[in-house]
Amino acid sequence: MKEFIQSLPKVELHLHIEGTLEPELMFELAKRNKVDIPFNSVTEVRDAYNFHNLQSFLDIYFQGANVLIHEQDFFELTWAYLLRCKEDNVLHTEVFFDPQAHTERGISFDTVINGIHRALVKAATELNISSKLIMCFLRHLDEVSAFETLAQAQTHKDKIIAVGLDSTEIGNPAGKFERVFNQALEQGFLTVAHAGEEGAASNIYEALNLLKITRIDHGVRCTDDNELVKQLVTERTPLTVCPLSNIKLKVFERMEQHNIVSLLRKGVCVTINSDDPAYFGGYMTDNFLAVNNALPMNKTEIGQFTLNAIEASFISQSEKQRLTIATQSYIDQHQ
Ligand code: HPA
Ligand code: ZN
Repeated sequence: MKEFIQSLPKVELHLHIEGTLEPELMFELAKRNKVDIPFNSVTEVRDAYNFHNLQSFLDIYFQGANVLIHEQDFFELTWAYLLRCKEDNVLHTEVFFDPQAHTERGISFDTVINGIHRALVKAATELNISSKLIMCFLRHLDEVSAFETLAQAQTHKDKIIAVGLDSTEIGNPAGKFERVFNQALEQGFLTVAHAGEEGAASNIYEALNLLKITRIDHGVRCTDDNELVKQLVTERTPLTVCPLSNIKLKVFERMEQHNIVSLLRKGVCVTINSDDPAYFGGYMTDNFLAVNNALPMNKTEIGQFTLNAIEASFISQSEKQRLTIATQSYIDQHQ
């Protein structure tokens, strides 16, 4: 099964590019950019990756992002992630970035997006990996800052498919960003949002109704509300689930208790994603393996995660069809 999972075509829909910063690159960039980091070695950094909830992770995540200064840094960060995608046979990826994590430190929006975008373009030609870019607003910041960020994105609309919402869920309800999301929708962006990761199932309703989101990031707390699960099945609303992240951030204590496989079997459009792989101990293949080790599935079920991700992606119908055929034939050939 390990070989089947390793070579299975994959599509990633929930990946924070700042969360792919491996300690080795963090050190290299800290040195090159003369940025102080509170660690003396790669081992010390990895030892600090012991989180007890979302906030304890976010503190370290924003601290790590401080070493990213120049366009080339954002390029190298993104390129390193795309090379990992190649190893895991990820054919398409939809990447989040957090502009405010950088503009708040005086780095320009253009520097950030140009570096990331250059790597994505190079991957399309050199690695045969397609991609979309999703701009997230940090929900712990205010509405004014989100509007400013949306304004900065105007000259880069051709590079951004959707806007999203991440960072601290509890205490920062979706409603805080209803007006920003409405403006983004009017401007032609699609919308997604983190909801029901740490926060209650009611946050998922709120994000669906107020922000008009087309997919829910995480959303695992939906199982607290049977009516909501039924609605998700009927409407095929996708959930971008991140299994290793959920364990690291103690959303579930153990993988055996994770609800992803039971949601799949109920007919929810669940997908497997890596979230912040440098911090949570694994990329796409690692996430698939971790789920299957704890909650064994057959090959059709494992392959369904990719078919769901293709359905939930923001690519054209013809691209969806091409990836679906490739994935289905891989599954059929390996029965
Ligand atoms: N949740 C919320 N915000 C985030 C996450 C997450 O899992 N990863 C990076 N920012
Ligand atoms: Zn996330």
